[in-house]
Amino acid sequence: MPADPPSGKSSTESLSSPNLLRALGGKPVWPPPIWLMRQAGRYLPEYRELRAKAGSFLDLCYTPSLAAEVTLQPIRRFGFDGAILFSDILVVPHALGQDVRFVEGEGPRLDPVTTEAELSRLADELPLERLAPVFETLERVKAALPTETTLLGFCGAPWTVASYMVGGRGTPDLKPIRDAAATYPAFLERLVDRLVEASIANHVRQLEAGAEAVQIFESHAGVLGGADLERWSLEPIRRIVDGVRAKRPEARVIVFARGAGEAHPRVGPATGASAIGLDQGVDLRALLPALPPALPTQGNLDPETLVAGGDALDRAVDDILLAVRGRPHVFNLGHGIVPQTPIAHVERMVARVRAAGP
Ligand code: CP3
Repeated sequence: MPADPPSGKSSTESLSSPNLLRALGGKPVWPPPIWLMRQAGRYLPEYRELRAKAGSFLDLCYTPSLAAEVTLQPIRRFGFDGAILFSDILVVPHALGQDVRFVEGEGPRLDPVTTEAELSRLADELPLERLAPVFETLERVKAALPTETTLLGFCGAPWTVASYMVGGRGTPDLKPIRDAAATYPAFLERLVDRLVEASIANHVRQLEAGAEAVQIFESHAGVLGGADLERWSLEPIRRIVDGVRAKRPEARVIVFARGAGEAHPRVGPATGASAIGLDQGVDLRALLPALPPALPTQGNLDPETLVAGGDALDRAVDDILLAVRGRPHVFNLGHGIVPQTPIAHVERMVARVRAAGP
């Protein structure tokens, strides 16, 4: 990999930039760069081993030497083009002062925030010092990564983070936050405003600490339709993108609005995203012609197809490659990799993407 040009402007893509950054900058790169959501996790024996030693999941997130090691594990094994910070979207409510626990086998539990009084007990501004271990993790990973591997930071989008803050846990239909939106919108607006500001501060600090691009996870866009999608998801995300760019104009921001369905073409223009993430529900051949040709996309292999493997996996990989040929695209899953995924299937997929014909 050649060194950066003498100008030292590593954030402005040139031919010597890593493939992932070039694709996020709107250049069709072939074969497309690849990384996977949740690529560090329980499907890897080395993760399970380290996780068992670390104690709780949050202890792992807040111990920079261990979190950095976990971030690097999938890079060593598969040589992905992107390394994503090992942390969680719920460290933000935790830093704001909400009680957050991860219960083995059950997922996150939070003391719900549903009233103005409970909200007023949380910090107005994100206390960045509480997330110091997360930023130190980025610094350590950045120092250890090969130059061709792009380091990604992330945040949850306000609606998704608020759904856990208000509901106190993952709820299949998001009833608690949908009720709050319907009956107490002024409260939810204040919470979302606070998360917008916290996300800007968090992303700017992540970029300072070594992240080269960031992804905003809107995992629960699917329950919002029409004007509600604009109000509670796309508009707050736009404020985050604008706020980050005001401080870091060159910042690349991937917006992943999972379940946005018919609304996917609106996500790019409405948020100002550099790139949009697509879930496995999206038919690429139908959607891509409706997008600006230079808008980078990311996705969207079904994580269950990766579990299945075999010919079905090969065909699904080929379908994506065929659909995205000529466009700036980042190969990824449509959602996080699942724990039962065989490692051999990941190897097979990476090899197939990297062998993509002309
Ligand atoms: O992509 C990555 O590898 C980066 C690290 C990362 C994690 N979570 C690690 C994690 C990222 C980007 C997230 C995002 C996240 N966290 C989201 C948005 C993306 C999505 O998956 O929809 C959400 C909704 C959360 C909240 C969260 N964290 C839940 C619901 C759970 C439990 C579910 C589960 O898989 O157990 C977590 C825990 C979590 N976050 C794990 C990992 C690797 C599993 C923890 C363990 O080791 O036991």
